[in-house]
Amino acid sequence: MNTKNRDKLIVFDTTLRDGEQSAGASLTSQDKFRIAGQLQKLNVDVIEAGFAASSPGDFSAVRKIALEIEGPTICTLARAVKSDIDAAIECVKDGLKPRIHTFLSVSDIHLLHQMKKDRESIMLMAVDAVKRAKEFVEDIEFSPMDASRSDPEYLYIMLEKAIDAGATTVNIPDTVGYSNPKEFGNLISGVFKNVSNINKAIVSVHCHNDLGMAVANSLSSLENGARQIEGCVNGLGERAGNAALEEVIMAVKTRPDHYGISSDINTEEIGATSRLISNIFGFPIQYNKAITGQNAFRHSSGIHQDAYLKERTTFEIMHPDEVGWRGDAIVLTKVSGRAGLKSRLEYLGYKIDDEELIEIFKNFKNLADQKKEITDQDLEALMSEFHRELDTTERFKVVDLDVICGNKQNPSSTITLELPNGKTKTSTKTGTGPVDAVCNSIDSIINENITLTEFAVSSVTEGIDALGEVTIRIEKEGTIYTGQGSDTDIIVASAKAYVNAINRYLIIQSSN
Ligand code: KIV
Ligand code: ZN
Repeated sequence: MNTKNRDKLIVFDTTLRDGEQSAGASLTSQDKFRIAGQLQKLNVDVIEAGFAASSPGDFSAVRKIALEIEGPTICTLARAVKSDIDAAIECVKDGLKPRIHTFLSVSDIHLLHQMKKDRESIMLMAVDAVKRAKEFVEDIEFSPMDASRSDPEYLYIMLEKAIDAGATTVNIPDTVGYSNPKEFGNLISGVFKNVSNINKAIVSVHCHNDLGMAVANSLSSLENGARQIEGCVNGLGERAGNAALEEVIMAVKTRPDHYGISSDINTEEIGATSRLISNIFGFPIQYNKAITGQNAFRHSSGIHQDAYLKERTTFEIMHPDEVGWRGDAIVLTKVSGRAGLKSRLEYLGYKIDDEELIEIFKNFKNLADQKKEITDQDLEALMSEFHRELDTTERFKVVDLDVICGNKQNPSSTITLELPNGKTKTSTKTGTGPVDAVCNSIDSIINENITLTEFAVSSVTEGIDALGEVTIRIEKEGTIYTGQGSDTDIIVASAKAYVNAINRYLIIQSSN
């Protein structure tokens, strides 16, 4: 192990790469940039921003992040083939702190069915890929995919050769979440014992959560000498996801007696990061989720409450402030002024200029007219709506909506949309319910032949006057696109979400 990093946990965030591989996720480059900005505030060490060769859209999103986000190392993934490596080099080589992460399968099951190659050819591919990337970028990570199901003897030789070829980090993936803490810990300890040049590289792990053990396996690897953990905020990622980074980070922070290492993470930013990512991906956070769930610091039973009120630490091992957790603090009302709004938004981490403040204040006043008390969660929803509008200027926009529904008449909707050319168009359609009628009237204007696959409504806060947040997923040519909208009227929120999903499809389509 690289001795200079022996006591530091290197946090490698792959929300923008493995996280984006979550079924039903699709990010625009603006989404990616906004998330990267928040990860910078969280102070992660490495951001895996995407997969340069996967699409022109991802290439330019990663490149922009690599050139503009200061602080973290910015990494792009590449298969161990020349075309991917060259795209990765082109993408990040001029970046502020670039890394190329190259991978290929090493388990016999993958070699036989996926790669259709023998062990020797795979070994050569790995070495060639690392050497090629190293010609242009100093910081190279190598991952033998499906390592936890591979022959350890073969794995050790491959790691040794990858390090000799120039890999500065070697990452051991539990690609299909098959391992368990004891076994995975032993694998990491085996790597330290059997790879002769291992002290020239950082040992990293990348654990998937198929059996719910991704965080436990990651922590076990730390007990055995690994120093980089890969994972995603909120545990997003392929299938059941990756290790939830916030859980690993807080385990290490809360139990220094056990792990004996620390990270540079600004843990107070965890809550804001988790909410932003949940919002942009359109995946709600489970109520009882560790660290970031809305119940994570709520004490319900009388016995617990009694003891907690006498001494907080009887039932709390972390302070909610430490992870930026927020209860239901009521902060603003319709009599609040522009300065109050600006200062609260700044406290929540939003930097806004005077021109933006004028627009946001208008939206705030509209909301405050409908809703007595504006909470931090309302403000976050308001800001998400503001950013969605900003990202989709020159796209379709909901101008007016009239809906007739009830149990005595056929639901019908009349909607007016602003078109990308600035003109407006109105359409009236019926449907099986008000949302169906709204979608039909939007379809008749936009005409994109898409299928609505998911519709979910949640309320931003409690209470009858709460803001409704609608998430809609649409499918077009086999790809899923997500849209969101919020409003005190859930039918209006639905119209906004549907139009937002179509706009995002059009944006992603035009960048590829
Ligand atoms: O799960 C996996 O093995 C991966 C690799 C690309 C590291 O995502
Ligand atoms: Zn993965």
